[in-house]
Order: sequence, then C-alpha cells, then structure tokens
Amino acid sequence: MHFSYFLLKQGVNMSNGERIFWLLIMLLTMFMYGATNLSCDYGSNLKNQLVAHCDNRGFISVPRNLNRNIQVLDLSNNLIPVIKNNTLINYTKMEILILNSNNISEVHECGFEGLRYLRILRMENNAINISKLPSRVFRPLENLMVLEIGWNEKQWMEHESFVYPDKVFSNLKSLQNLSIDLFDRPVFGNGFKLLQNLAVLNFRRCYMRKHGKLSNETFRNISPKLRELYITRCHHFFHIDKGILRYFPELKILDLSHSYIHLYQALNILYPYQNKNMSVINFHHISDKSINNDKFPYSVIITKELMRYLRSICIEALDLSATGIVDDEFYSLFSFQYPGCFKTFIISANRLPSTTLEHYMQTVVFLTRATNLKTYDMSYLPAQFLNPLYLDVYHPEKFIGSHNQEKQHIFHQSFPYNY
Ligand SMILES: *[C@@H]1O[C@H](CO)[C@@H](O)[C@H](O)[C@H]1NC(C)=O
Ligand SMILES: *[C@@H]1O[C@H](CO)[C@@H](O)[C@H](O)[C@H]1NC(C)=O
Ligand SMILES: *[C@@H]1O[C@H](CO)[C@@H](O)[C@H](O)[C@H]1NC(C)=O
Ligand SMILES: *[C@@H]1O[C@H](CO)[C@@H](O)[C@H](O)[C@H]1NC(C)=O
Ligand SMILES: *[C@@H]1O[C@H](CO)[C@@H](O)[C@H](O)[C@H]1NC(C)=O
Ligand SMILES: *[C@@H]1O[C@H](CO)[C@@H](O)[C@H](O)[C@H]1NC(C)=O
Ligand SMILES: *[C@@H]1O[C@H](CO)[C@@H](O)[C@H](O)[C@H]1NC(C)=O
Repeated sequence: MHFSYFLLKQGVNMSNGERIFWLLIMLLTMFMYGATNLSCDYGSNLKNQLVAHCDNRGFISVPRNLNRNIQVLDLSNNLIPVIKNNTLINYTKMEILILNSNNISEVHECGFEGLRYLRILRMENNAINISKLPSRVFRPLENLMVLEIGWNEKQWMEHESFVYPDKVFSNLKSLQNLSIDLFDRPVFGNGFKLLQNLAVLNFRRCYMRKHGKLSNETFRNISPKLRELYITRCHHFFHIDKGILRYFPELKILDLSHSYIHLYQALNILYPYQNKNMSVINFHHISDKSINNDKFPYSVIITKELMRYLRSICIEALDLSATGIVDDEFYSLFSFQYPGCFKTFIISANRLPSTTLEHYMQTVVFLTRATNLKTYDMSYLPAQFLNPLYLDVYHPEKFIGSHNQEKQHIFHQSFPYNY
C-alpha cells in the first residue's frame, strides 16, 4: 500500500497519459496484493512462533501462497464460506488456526488434511451445522488440544433430543478444552468416551428450552477427569436431575452464572463434592424474576437442608450474588464446615436481613473464622439500580463487564480484619 501511495504522489505532476499508465500499474499492484498472500502480515508471538496475520482482509478462501513454515494462522473476520479439501495441506507446521467470524457453512472431509501438529482450532461465530460435519473431518487432528466451535448454526429439534455427532468428535483423542453450543435434551454418545483427556467443557450459546432437561444420564460419556464445566446464560428455566455431576469427581470449577435454573436446583446437584476442594462455584444470577412459582419461588429462604452439600465443600471462591436470597435460618447460610478455604465470598444483590443482631453476629462469626478471605461482598443492590456492578468471582479485583476499573468501596470490603 505504501508503494501504491508513492506512485500516486508521483503521478500528480505528470501528463494525463502518464498518469493513466501509473494508475493502471497501481491498480495492477493492488490487485496482485489482494490476490496473493501479500496482504497478510508476518510476525512472531511471545513463544517465538511464526504468525501470519490474515484477519480482516476480506478473504473468501484460505490464502494458498503463505510461508509454509507458519505455525499460527489468524484468518478471523473474513468471508470464507467453505474449508475445501486439502486447502491447508502445505502448512504442515501449523499449531494454531483461527477461523472465528467467517461465513463457514461447509467443511470438506479433507479440509484439515495435513495439520498433524495443530493444537488449537478456533472456529466460533460461523454458520457450521455440526450435524453436517463429515465424520472423518477431524481425523488428521490427533494432537488437537483446544476446539472452539460454539456460536454456530442453531439446530432444529422440535420435540426430541439433540444427538451430538459423537463419531466426528471421537477422533480428537488429545482434546482438553471443548467449547460448543448447548442444545436441549443433549445426547453425548459413546464416541465422547474416547476424549479421555477432556478437562474443560464450556457451553457457549445455550438453546435449552423452557421445561427442557439435563438428566442423570446426560454426561455419562464425558471424561471423569473433567475439571471445569460452564453452563451459562440459559435464560429459560429447565430441569436438572440431581445426579448430573456424578460423573465428575474431579470438578474444580462449576459455573452456572446467568442460567435461570433456580438456587434450589443448583444447590441440590452439589452432593458429589462433599468434603472435597473446589476452586470456583459461580451461581451468580441463577434465580430470576421470570421464575417465580410455588415450587421455585423468586424469594429464597436458605435452610439447613438446602445448605447441606454446599456447606461441606472447601471452596476458594463462591459467588451467590443475585440469587434471590431474602433470609436464612440460623446455622444455615453461614455454617460452612471449611470457612478457612474461602478467599472470595460474594453474596451481593440479595435481600439478606442485616438488621437483626443475630444475623449480624452470624456473619461476624463466619468472617472471623474465614481467615484466608481477601474479598467479601455482601452489598445490597436495590432492584431499581440500573447498572449494578458485580465483582468478578475469578478476578475479584475487577467488576464484571466494567471498563471502569476504579473500585467503589461501598461494594467491596477487604479482609482479613485485625481484631
Ligand atoms: C473431498 O475429499 C473426499 C475424500 O477424498 C471426497 O470424498 C470428497 O468428494 C471431496 N469433496 C469435494 C467437494 O471435492
Ligand atoms: C501445495 O504444494 C503443492 C506442491 O508444491 C502444490 O502443487 C499445491 O498446489 C499446494 N497446495 C495448496 C493448497 O497450496
Ligand atoms: C455467507 O454464505 C451464504 C451461503 O452459505 C451466502 O448466501 C451469503 O451471501 C454469505 N455472506 C457473505 C457476507 O458473504
Ligand atoms: C443440520 O444438518 C442436519 C443433518 O443434515 C439437518 O437434519 C438439519 O436440518 C440441519 N439444521 C439446520 C438448522 O439446517
Ligand atoms: C483451556 O482451558 C483452560 C481452563 O479454562 C484455560 O486456562 C486455557 O487458557 C484454555 N486453553 C486455551 C488454549 O484456550
Ligand atoms: C438421579 O440420580 C440421583 C442421585 O443418584 C437419584 O437420587 C435420582 O433419583 C435420579 N433421578 C432420576 C430421574 O433418575
Ligand atoms: C484441600 O484444601 C485444603 C485447604 O486449602 C488443603 O489443606 C488440603 O490439602 C486440600 N485437599 C486436597 C485433597 O487437595
């Protein structure tokens, strides 16, 4: 582009014929730049890998003449509609391929041929119908550790369940992180058993319908080594069988934030973790005004019975904010067996009574025993507060979705206190 600009400037003092000649040269140059690999920039990343930056270039196909030694190819935000057979076959050293935000609706059977060393494949926000992926499409990717294929085509399932194409995924023997959309009444077939190293399952867009269901059997083929499970932003109430987590004895992070499944159901599925250690339980905003009936009332009174599992888990960071709690029986909410495990405890945006001396004393006793607590937030945010700020349970020094990093101390108190 700099080259063309130079020609244009030179053209200013020329005759018309010369100018047209140079303009033609310039157009030709631009055409060549556009038609070949030259519009990608090369660089290297922190790991000293050769990176081709081809994002936001208007590509409608994978560029063919890039340096064959590239290890990272960023093709995000282009207009590629299809990954054709053997189109990446000469980039044999590739480790990271980013195809997010294209228009991909089709991947040919040999689309990823040759990518034997690929470790990370990101293809979110495309138009892929995962049911239409050829069953052998991921076969070359025997070393793939991370697959992100969420925010793709919605699946049509009128009444029955959605069967994930387990044959397709079963080839990914090294997979550790999987991000994918969650469809209602999901069935993860036997093929998922072969993903023995799966550690992180992150459901992206949630299509759970009103009165949908995750059952005791849903995750039976998912690896027992799973450490992190994210089922977030499901805005329709659905049923969860008590035993859904029984396949995951090693789970360390459970994030159900913004899924309106109600605190009753969320607390009930925690039984496999009694007397175990967990890093994060995020129940932020799992009760919502839109769910309010006799069985699942919007106003929740915490009882000993409800707390029986949660209280016996050693948790580093717990988020119970905006869960509809209005009151707690004595020796329930603050009766944790391992208060010393807490580093972060967020219970803001509820309507807990702090007016009675007994309630206040309960809290004080808990806080005294929670000797490792660094962040404690029980601020009361009135419902009419338009844009409440919530602390991020993973990074309690930050607010969720807030660019304003400045802390507002009315919402946030730091511990330990000196008594
Ligand atoms: C891609 O390759 C597979 C296997 O060789 C073949 O069956 C298929 O027809 C090819 N697809 C296209 C669109 O050429
Ligand atoms: C890969 O390299 C071979 C041999 O150099 C060439 O014929 C072929 O067109 C290349 N394929 C692509 C997709 O660039
Ligand atoms: C995306 O692909 C569809 C066909 O799958 C096509 O109709 C549409 O025009 C494409 N959009 C863009 C922006 O290229
Ligand atoms: C996805 O593909 C499956 C299998 O070909 C098909 O039955 C289904 O209708 C497709 N879904 C959409 C939304 O096009
Ligand atoms: C895989 O998941 C873990 C845990 O969420 C995360 O820390 C890591 O960055 C992920 N890996 C990649 C390459 O995205
Ligand atoms: C699911 O599993 C739990 C715990 O094992 C059991 O109590 C419950 O009855 C089961 N529910 C169904 C619907 O099978
Ligand atoms: C659980 O955490 C506690 C306190 O942080 C620690 O002492 C204990 O060793 C941990 N137990 C296991 C099984 O990791």
